[in-house]
Amino acid sequence: MRVLFVGDVFATPGMRVASACLRQVRGEYDFVIVNGENAAGGFGITRKHFEQLREAGADVVTLGNHGFDQAEALTLVEETTRLLRPANYPPGTPGLGWAIYDVVGAGARVAVVQVMGRVFMEAMDDPFRAVDDALERIPDDVPVIVDMHAEATSEKKVMGYHLAGRVSAVIGTHTHVPTADETVFRGTAYITDVGMTGVQASSIGMAFEEVHDRFVHKLPRRFRPAHGPASVMAVAVEVEGRRATSIRRIRWDGPQHAAGDASDGEDEHRGGGGRRPA
Ligand SMILES: [Fe+2]
Repeated sequence: MRVLFVGDVFATPGMRVASACLRQVRGEYDFVIVNGENAAGGFGITRKHFEQLREAGADVVTLGNHGFDQAEALTLVEETTRLLRPANYPPGTPGLGWAIYDVVGAGARVAVVQVMGRVFMEAMDDPFRAVDDALERIPDDVPVIVDMHAEATSEKKVMGYHLAGRVSAVIGTHTHVPTADETVFRGTAYITDVGMTGVQASSIGMAFEEVHDRFVHKLPRRFRPAHGPASVMAVAVEVEGRRATSIRRIRWDGPQHAAGDASDGEDEHRGGGGRRPA
């Protein structure tokens, strides 16, 4: 089974390039997972973004620390099993942290689990225990793809070690900068971060100017999503049963017109008033 995992889709430029890429390459893969927690101008996801990603070919969209920034996501995660939030939210949080899906045309199933790290992030339940709990309920012959949404490289690496030989892949998200450490270890594909789908010439998705001003002058500035040429950052994982056989990094550069244009202004209304995206 060939699985494509698309890194954090950021704002309108990310949505456009992700949609263009998926329409072109979707047929090469059996199952596509997209991290979409930054789709709405960097902060969360709306029904419109989720539906656009699904129509473009995403089988599952994962979230993260910004997953519920847009209020409608709270109801959306209760309506569909195709939008996952981290499994280590406290009990009673809306939505699912993992699920098992039929792979259309492949006669197979695949499980997707998302957990969120706790180092340099908001306090959460234990991600290691959360993924262990999920694995106890997933049949042994079902491939398992884990989205480890975390800030600290060490925590992601240790999650890779924790799950080595027990899941098909541990894919790091959240930091928006891709790492070059992809490997298959004990049958588990691993990468510390897939990278971001959006404008790479940016401060992890936001325009440089305000972020630079904030670093240099320590003044509160409202961040705005960067506009310009955008790229998809992704990994392709080949899976046989529970084991992975390969992992490959992919960068798909969109045409210039795939970038956002200043005229739509959509993203500017969703900014976080200086809050940090990712
Ligand atoms: Fe994040």
